[in-house]
Amino acid sequence: MAELYEAIQREIAKYPDRRGAILPALHLAQEHYGWLPPEAFEAVGEALDLSPAHCLSVASFYDMFFLQPVGDHVVEVCTNLSCALVGSDRLLRQFERELGVHAPGTSEDGKVTLRRVECLGGCGWGPVVMVDEQYQEHFQPEDVAPLLTELRSTPRPSESHA
Ligand code: FES
Repeated sequence: MAELYEAIQREIAKYPDRRGAILPALHLAQEHYGWLPPEAFEAVGEALDLSPAHCLSVASFYDMFFLQPVGDHVVEVCTNLSCALVGSDRLLRQFERELGVHAPGTSEDGKVTLRRVECLGGCGWGPVVMVDEQYQEHFQPEDVAPLLTELRSTPRPSESHA
């Protein structure tokens, strides 16, 4: 907890107004907890002199923040128009079949959370899938099984740095 507080303080030092650091502070809290539980909003709010409710309202605006617990890995499939035109719905269904979940959902073994997201900003390279915050372009249904095999045998990203 002290480690998170100090990391947030280092971010605050980069901004003229401490409240400007809310997005990086939420990122740090998410890295710390793996998602954003109520105590994350209390920690961020205390550091930035904002209410936890305000921090929650900001986080809920962005797809990149997890308001529910997630699995060891997070796979996000863009289903916005450009990606939909090149098969993202078929891709999402393939992920759902392989994982046995409906997006948003987490596989029974807790390894992979599948989410459907809005435009990831790579419209010319669709379908775009984000895997643990790394973009994968032109992703195809046949790429699903090898990716999931790899993820199932890989620790949570934060643990692989430990
Ligand atoms: S529509 Fe998928 S990245 Fe923009």
